[in-house]
Amino acid sequence: MRIMRTIADVRAAVGEARDSGSTVGLVPTMGAFHEGHLSLMRRARAENDLVVVSVFVNPTQFGVGEDLSTYPRDEQRDAALAREADIDILFAPPLTEVYPRGFATTIHVAGVTEVLDGASRGPHHFDGVATVVTKLFQIVAPDTAYFGQKDAQQVLVVRRLVRDLDMPVRIVACPIVREPDGLAMSSRNVYLDQDARRRATALNRALDAAEALVAAGRKDRDAVIAVARAELEASAIQPEYVELRSTDDLRELDRIDSTALLLVAARVGAARLIDNRTLEVSP
Ligand code: PAF
Repeated sequence: MRIMRTIADVRAAVGEARDSGSTVGLVPTMGAFHEGHLSLMRRARAENDLVVVSVFVNPTQFGVGEDLSTYPRDEQRDAALAREADIDILFAPPLTEVYPRGFATTIHVAGVTEVLDGASRGPHHFDGVATVVTKLFQIVAPDTAYFGQKDAQQVLVVRRLVRDLDMPVRIVACPIVREPDGLAMSSRNVYLDQDARRRATALNRALDAAEALVAAGRKDRDAVIAVARAELEASAIQPEYVELRSTDDLRELDRIDSTALLLVAARVGAARLIDNRTLEVSP
C-alpha cells in the first residue's frame, strides 16, 4: 500500500492503472476506521483492480460548535488496517491540498439536503460533503465509490449529485454494520461514556420495534414513529428527529405502501448519533 499526500501523485498512480485497463474503486472516509469502513474496503477490494481509500476530516462539513477539533484521528492505526484490507492507495492529503488558499467553490444539492440532518446541522453540512465528494471524484475518477448506508441521507445526496452533474461514477451503498448489542458502528461512538454507551442501544431497539410493528401489519406513520419514540424515551433519549421518509427522495410519508426509510438522530451523552432502517411491507 502506498500513502499519498498530493493530488498529483494520486492522479499519476490512478492514470497508470487505468492505462493498463484497471478498474478503480474509491472509499471516501474521514478515518478512525471501524468495521463499517472495513466492510466498504472489502467490497471495493472484491470489485476493483485498484482501490483508493481517502482519509480526510473535511472541515467544511462541520458547523460551529460541532466536533471538528475532537474528531478521532489516528493515521497510523488507519494505515495498518487499510494495509490489512489490501488497499492499494491511502490518500491522506493535508488541508491545503484539498482547500488551497483562495478556494471559493461550493457544491449545493437542493431538496434532499434540506430536511433531517440538513435541517438539524444546517445547510453547510451537506454543502461540505457534496463539495469534498465532488473533489474526490475529480481527483480519483473512480468507476465505483462506496458509502455506508448508516449515512442514508448522505447516500441520497451523493446519488443526486452524481446524476445531476453526469458524473460517471457508480455509487454503492453498503449495509450498516452493528456492534453485537445492535449499536450502529460510528467513529463518534468513542465519545460515549459507559452510561451513554448502554443507552445508545435504544436507537437500534427503536428501529427494531418499528420494523416489528410493520411486520405485524401496521403501515401508518404515526404508529410507526410512536413505537420508535417510546423505545428511545424508555432510555431517556429525546431524539432530534424520528421520521418516516421515502427511500428515493426523502419526501415525507403518511403510510408505507412498499418501502420507506425510518431515520433517527439523537444526542446521547457527548455523541450525536444517527441510525436508520429500510422498512418494507410484504405485498
Ligand atoms: O461519510 C463520511 O465519512 C464523510 O461524510 C465523507 C463522505 C468522507 C465526506 O467527507
